[in-house]
Amino acid sequence: MTQPGSDILVVGGGIMGLSIALELRQRGAEVTLLSRDFAAAASHAAAGMLAPRAEGIPPGPMLDLCLASLDRYPDWVAKLEALSGQSVGYWPSGILAPRSQGPDPEGPLTPPVSSPGQGQWIAADSLRHYQPGLSASVAGAYWYPEDGQVNNQALIQALRTVVLDLGVTLHEGVGATALRQSQGRIERVCTAQSGDFQATHVVLAAGAWSHERLPIPVFPKKGEMASLRVPPHLGTIQPLQRVLFGERIYIVPRQDGRIVLGATSQEVGFTPGNTAAGVHQLLANAIDLLPWLADGLLDQTWWGYRPATPDEMPLLGQGPAENLFLATGHYRNGILLAPI
Ligand code: GLY
Repeated sequence: MTQPGSDILVVGGGIMGLSIALELRQRGAEVTLLSRDFAAAASHAAAGMLAPRAEGIPPGPMLDLCLASLDRYPDWVAKLEALSGQSVGYWPSGILAPRSQGPDPEGPLTPPVSSPGQGQWIAADSLRHYQPGLSASVAGAYWYPEDGQVNNQALIQALRTVVLDLGVTLHEGVGATALRQSQGRIERVCTAQSGDFQATHVVLAAGAWSHERLPIPVFPKKGEMASLRVPPHLGTIQPLQRVLFGERIYIVPRQDGRIVLGATSQEVGFTPGNTAAGVHQLLANAIDLLPWLADGLLDQTWWGYRPATPDEMPLLGQGPAENLFLATGHYRNGILLAPI
């Protein structure tokens, strides 16, 4: 069986596939999207940090791309919220990166190489007033007021709603089994569930699974996550008003009262599940940094697969066929890079 052709066939129903489908549909293209398993996308597993500076991405094209995408965030989420009628929890809260050692007073005025980006250093005395509750072992923190976060789970739901409303043909539960080439073009995309698909252009945005269809250097790097609810004795208002990006943990407060903890980083292929060691690492490191979290109520644990690449940069643009385009390998920065 061969499905009716379209202008664009997007392979991958996570945040990249959906964002690209939306943009092309708004520019007037007929777009078909194949999503093998929406729930498995790394987009759900992420913490939603928008952290080009706190992630310590070195100066260069990747940092430029990340900063340009961050600049687009306010307009992009405003568009999605207007089209979907759903809030996506965009919160330019700033990110605080606590450190056990401060910058060398004899050294250059810029942060040490091991510290991320060019944040403003806040020494322990001032930090105690700015961010109460941090461990006594914290020497200070770098402050990145322009970094922030979005509720990635709400974002991906809104994006999918909009894409469907605008008339993208979405096939859920349909994964590509092969990209058939002829004379330098992708002639058909084969699936086990719905036969073959044809399109003028094909976009591969299948995240950590992208290498299953093409010999490209993308591989899964598993991350385990957990979330807590604020301890009842601290009331119903979220007591944490900014993201904490520690040396071994990040702690992301949500406006709905949850606190997301992330993430382990392991090369174990697509091994599913939360491990005792993974959850222990998250909880122990979180409590070490912010001791009152010991009274937090355990909410959820989950995991996902970052689409990693050897140089930690995404694969974007023309692929190894005339009508094939790649948008994959976003590794730790897929939520951040969606608008661009
Ligand atoms: N962006 C954070 C992570 O991948 O864990």
